[in-house]
Amino acid sequence: MKVLVFGARGMLGKDLVPALSVKHQVLARDIEDLDITDQHRVQKEIEILRPQVVVNAAAYTDVDGCESNKELAFAVNADGARNIAAGCAAINARMIHLSTDYVFDGTSSAPYREEDPPHPLNVHGSSKLLGEHYVQEILRDHLIIRTEWLFGRHGKNFVDTILRLAAQQEELRVVNDQRGAPTFTKDLSWAIEKLLEKEAKGILHITNSGSCTWYEFARRILREKNIDHISIIPISSAELTRPAERPANSILNCHRFETLVGQKMRNWEEALKEYLA
Ligand SMILES: NC(=O)c1ccc[n+]([C@@H]2O[C@H](COP(=O)([O-])OP(=O)(O)OC[C@H]3O[C@@H](n4cnc5c(N)ncnc54)[C@H](OP(=O)(O)O)[C@@H]3O)[C@@H](O)[C@H]2O)c1
Repeated sequence: MKVLVFGARGMLGKDLVPALSVKHQVLARDIEDLDITDQHRVQKEIEILRPQVVVNAAAYTDVDGCESNKELAFAVNADGARNIAAGCAAINARMIHLSTDYVFDGTSSAPYREEDPPHPLNVHGSSKLLGEHYVQEILRDHLIIRTEWLFGRHGKNFVDTILRLAAQQEELRVVNDQRGAPTFTKDLSWAIEKLLEKEAKGILHITNSGSCTWYEFARRILREKNIDHISIIPISSAELTRPAERPANSILNCHRFETLVGQKMRNWEEALKEYLA
């Protein structure tokens, strides 16, 4: 299949392109080649390249930055998704669009299912939700993948931040009242490759299995690296003033994905072990 990937040089994109390239012809694009907010150019590029599938991994992902750059957040995360969906509609291509747990407010006591009503707490989540709505309205042949807490070899992520801070400080204060599922971009890329072969449509939740708080995640990272001289203090979100509010419960129910591919994503601890090895 001919697959066009937007956001190819992002953290997910850099794992996704080689994962898809094993079986498919992959055309990789990022902001230096094409800005997805440019409706005309996106449309033209898709018409010229004529891919069968377009994956949108491009996004404005700075969650706190989105609060002060609302216009940019909506331009990239909502209008960008709309432009790609319209391009796909014009040539009957399928679109796989990446979205986020931040479309939910985190007040549920259970893991979120695909059909649960979204209610974003911050600008990032609102802009990503509008992107989802555009894709759903414009293109019947779409798959929206909601994921969360990504870590990977090619981008700024929590694992690397904790290791950097542990090399500089004796004590780390980490939030212990937000729960989610850390997800390895290599594993998510594997899942997306599997889904290319399936005719999955609609929304799917995909994360590594298991869950933890950021505090538990940090402890596990240091334990894996045998760093035991740092004290990690659990704190509440209220103690860490940040521009964007985050959901307390970010856990996504991935049963739909598991049923479709006949397999569960591996546990996040196992994925972390491989990442750190
Ligand atoms: N990271 C997470 O924890 C997380 C959680 C939930 C969902 N997701 C979703 O997963 C997907 C991949 O995330 P990621 O972590 O790989 O993000 P990332 O590392 O920030 O990569 C996104 C890529 O998109 C590019 N981009 C930004 N604006 C663009 C534009 N206007 N036109 C074209 N390209 C543009 C970025 O370029 P620059 O770097 O130059 O801006 C970057 O290369 C996104 O849809 C994101 O919303 C991520």
